[in-house]
Amino acid sequence: MIHATKEIPGYAYGSKDIQLSPVSMQELEELKVTVGWTDDDPIYLRLAGEVLEDQTKQIVDHWRNGIIASIPDLARHSQTPEGDRIPAYVANSGERFEQWILDTCRRPYDQDWLNYQLEIARRHTSASKNKVDGVRSTPYVPLRDILAFIVVINETIKPYLAAKGHSAEDVAKMHLAWCKSLQLQTALWTKLYMDTAHTPSEW
Ligand code: HEM
Repeated sequence: MIHATKEIPGYAYGSKDIQLSPVSMQELEELKVTVGWTDDDPIYLRLAGEVLEDQTKQIVDHWRNGIIASIPDLARHSQTPEGDRIPAYVANSGERFEQWILDTCRRPYDQDWLNYQLEIARRHTSASKNKVDGVRSTPYVPLRDILAFIVVINETIKPYLAAKGHSAEDVAKMHLAWCKSLQLQTALWTKLYMDTAHTPSEW
């Protein structure tokens, strides 16, 4: 199943309120070539979706509570400027993060998907961070931290991909497809971060 079984606060995939991506479908296709995308990748991502479906909560807890929470420079992005926790913010954005794992594996990479890439980028920058949940926190997550965190996400997803007894070869193919997708998505997000005509540099 692609879609959430229950309403996720602030999750707006495919909604008419989501802006059109400034990246064209043609540019997306070109970027897929750059990342080495093959016809196998969506197949193995779908398999990864089956494997990860009932593990998304654990995975997001691992990233957020197990890693980000213990790095003050990252943890501050889910807190108030005074350093207080904002439980509803963590809970709501965490549910959206869980859904993103499944969207990465199961959604067709079409215009809606491309548009939601812009929305996710907006929610990490001053264009829209904090707005969906109406909270007071840091104005943006620096691009450098997003890019540096890719390796952490890719490394820590491995045991979850291997958790359902698939062969080492299948797990490796799921992992490679996952890594390509994450690289593709974060490359798309840089478009907004580079758009310094509208927002200050948030490097
Ligand atoms: C490759 C790295 C990353 C990925 C794939 C990622 C993915 C996501 C996704 C999918 C969401 C939910 C988007 C939605 O609302 O639908 C999200 C939200 C968020 N992420 Fe990240 N993220 C990454 C890096 C980081 C880093 C390094 C931080 C710093 C702590 C961070 C902090 C946040 C925060 C605070 C939110 C909530 C934003 C808001 O709506 O106000 N992310 N992230």
